[in-house]
Amino acid sequence: MKLRLLAAILGLSFFVGANAPPAHAETGYGAWLRYAPLEKNLARKYDSLPTHFAGAGNSVVVQSALLELVRGIQGMLGTTLVQAPRHASGRAIVLGTIKDLHDRGVNLNPSSDMAEDGFWLKSTKLHGSDCLVIAGGNDRGVLYGVFGLLSKIARGEDLASLDEIQQPYAPIRWANQWDNLDGSIERGYAGRSIFFDNGSVRADLTRVRDYARLLASVGINGCAINNVNANPHALQPDFLPQLVRIADLFRPWGIRLSIAVDLSSPKLIGGLDTFDPLDPRAAEWWRKKTDEIYAVIPDFGGFVVKADSEGRLGPSSYHRTPADAANVIARALQPHGGMVFYRAFVYDHHLDWRNLKNDRAKAAYDNFHALDGQFDDNVIVQIKHGPIDFQAREPVSPLFGGLEKTNEAVELQITQEYTGQQRHLCFLAPMWKQVLDFDMHALGDRTPVKDLVSGKTFHRPLGGLVGIVNAGLDSNWLAHPLAMANLYAFGRLAWNPGISPGAIAEEWTRLTFGNDPTVVSTVANMQLSSWPTYESYTGPLGTQTLTDILGSHYGPGIESSEENGWGQWHRADQEGIGMDRTVATGTGFVGQYRPPVAQMYESLATTPDQLLLFFHHVPYNYVLHSGKTVIQHIYDSHYEGAAHVEEFVRQWKSLKEHIDADRYAQVLARLEYQAGHAIVWRDAICNYFLRESGIADAQGRAGDFPDRIEAESMQLQGYVPVGVTPRENASGGKAIECTQPQGCSASFPFTRIAGRYSLAVIYFDQKNGESKFRVFVDDKLIDQWVANDQLPATKIGGDSSTRRRINGLELRPGEQIRIEGIPDHDEHAALDYVELKTE
Ligand code: GCU
Repeated sequence: MKLRLLAAILGLSFFVGANAPPAHAETGYGAWLRYAPLEKNLARKYDSLPTHFAGAGNSVVVQSALLELVRGIQGMLGTTLVQAPRHASGRAIVLGTIKDLHDRGVNLNPSSDMAEDGFWLKSTKLHGSDCLVIAGGNDRGVLYGVFGLLSKIARGEDLASLDEIQQPYAPIRWANQWDNLDGSIERGYAGRSIFFDNGSVRADLTRVRDYARLLASVGINGCAINNVNANPHALQPDFLPQLVRIADLFRPWGIRLSIAVDLSSPKLIGGLDTFDPLDPRAAEWWRKKTDEIYAVIPDFGGFVVKADSEGRLGPSSYHRTPADAANVIARALQPHGGMVFYRAFVYDHHLDWRNLKNDRAKAAYDNFHALDGQFDDNVIVQIKHGPIDFQAREPVSPLFGGLEKTNEAVELQITQEYTGQQRHLCFLAPMWKQVLDFDMHALGDRTPVKDLVSGKTFHRPLGGLVGIVNAGLDSNWLAHPLAMANLYAFGRLAWNPGISPGAIAEEWTRLTFGNDPTVVSTVANMQLSSWPTYESYTGPLGTQTLTDILGSHYGPGIESSEENGWGQWHRADQEGIGMDRTVATGTGFVGQYRPPVAQMYESLATTPDQLLLFFHHVPYNYVLHSGKTVIQHIYDSHYEGAAHVEEFVRQWKSLKEHIDADRYAQVLARLEYQAGHAIVWRDAICNYFLRESGIADAQGRAGDFPDRIEAESMQLQGYVPVGVTPRENASGGKAIECTQPQGCSASFPFTRIAGRYSLAVIYFDQKNGESKFRVFVDDKLIDQWVANDQLPATKIGGDSSTRRRINGLELRPGEQIRIEGIPDHDEHAALDYVELKTE
């Protein structure tokens, strides 16, 4: 069959699909699969690459492998691979499963057994001709082998003596999307759903097909497509044919479709008066529903379940256990080879904060540990990596070490809910790597999380890694071009947790931006330092992310965690800070770890500084291992963190000549914004703890801003001063707002010595209006802009505070600087302060 015809039948994008921007327009859509023409010196290495291919096997997955191979070689080397005549024996790239290759007379055998999904790349002679063999343990392995080979070519690796076997570390390498059927995405920061719109599956699913291809390219083999806070409508008969359309697009890429379900579905949509998991009628309902799904989606992956958590109904309604709930569904799936991903994120969000023994961190272990051994073999307990909720720093969940007879998966968050929402650069591979390598001492002293979840430690049949992605309709999938490194890293670590974050960052940069050494080292360095940087200005020493936990989870909101039932407490007061989670005097959470780990965290002396305040309550002048006091660390880390982001801007600008204009501009805009927002964070936290502790910053920075002019102290026309809550989220606790439609102005005289200055204007950009700003020196217009960013804010404060920088301004004493603001809808052209710095 001709490839074009085949592509049409399979609905695959042999050449770029109708609705997708061409990969080389560099919008970011092509991600790490751009297949840009290879630099000449590198392309030469592949002069002797065969120009024919020969494929064994007819499955749709092997066919997409073939198409991908042709597409990649065409893009990178400009050569169109041609199908070798069936019985010819010349040079070729030969691909197929080991079995299919044997059937075709290619009698090669890898040196070790091939696991499911594994592949072998081998340069060898076949019938006397130089060939390149891509052999898979199964169909998916063939596809992964093609992606593996293309990645090598894109990075200029030598293929002459290639002989490489790759096997996945864990069988489960899944993506979860939290898409709602109306098209919104819970905690999604990159536009609307690629799957749903207005209660149905979208008419145009081009993006779904391309998403599946991206996932497959890093070895991801399953995807649950809807919000864990599940809408039961997804299970209704009219919806199933719609799901079939998605499954059909996933299948050629080896991705199993799965959906999140509401445990109360038998009652909500099934017409029963119960959803009691032990009631035979509920069991029968799940069985029938599951059979119905498999009749139309035979490779359906299974169900994700969030129950008894954050308002979701669960087995506790009938005094049943999570095992009862998981098993009733698992038994319906079992005959079809489906799985239940039962989330361990089960906790009470109405905890009494006054009780110092209460602790949300204990919930997962308390709810699941005692059930070890009671879950069926096709149930996987899906455990968030930390005991709280994807904070910038948490210890590893003790539950990983608390289950021996239960399949486990670690749940990681690619969507940056608590780590800057893809507006801040935060490459999470170093964090995930620490989690995966952390020794739980579950069986002797070599039981890292990666071995527990992959099933190696306790010989479990299933397990692995699940990543919440929340890719959206934004052209570059995750809104920040550099955030795509997180999706890439997730897949790479799920495949092989032994790879270093540095190697992943380098690979990703080469594939995404090319092999220019300056670009590779600069971008990889930025990525690698970005998580510690983000952590350092948003709440260090294990205090978790000091964000607004009741709303956006984005800007600073220090007290929002306190005095409510959500249990993300850090218990800061005038004396000290931190949660005492010790066995001796605290909540006892530490006792959930195996003894060697528990001993480390129980003692102040052996708890690492990074997690000190997660485990202990200490006074502000407590001296860390680093030799600094806690309070001085808070000041220093926040100032250093914000300065580091400024360094990111400088580093990125150094690449201007090396990166295409589109992506250069996209990233620069995000980094400039981040540098301003990091200062909002820095000041909120430093000012708060300065006030709380009463201890001055030894370096005199906190609370002292000599270059600032507060908006409320300017000469105002129409603008009125307003208080900001919480007060630490605006400079001086105040801002100015304009409510008159014709606009307002704020002005001040320049009184410093004549020279060249940069002027930063700190204003508030909400999503419920598009105010206009203009800046004049005397009466000369020097800058103007519209506040039209879509920040997660409808009021002034830490989420909306934004900086506009005007550089290279020649100023002389006596000149008047005037800022005009014109409000729009509910956004009142609010200003916080300006800052003048000599250049
Ligand atoms: C977090 C997140 C919720 C999400 C929940 C979950 O709490 O803020 O939006 O539903 O995690 O993982 O279930």
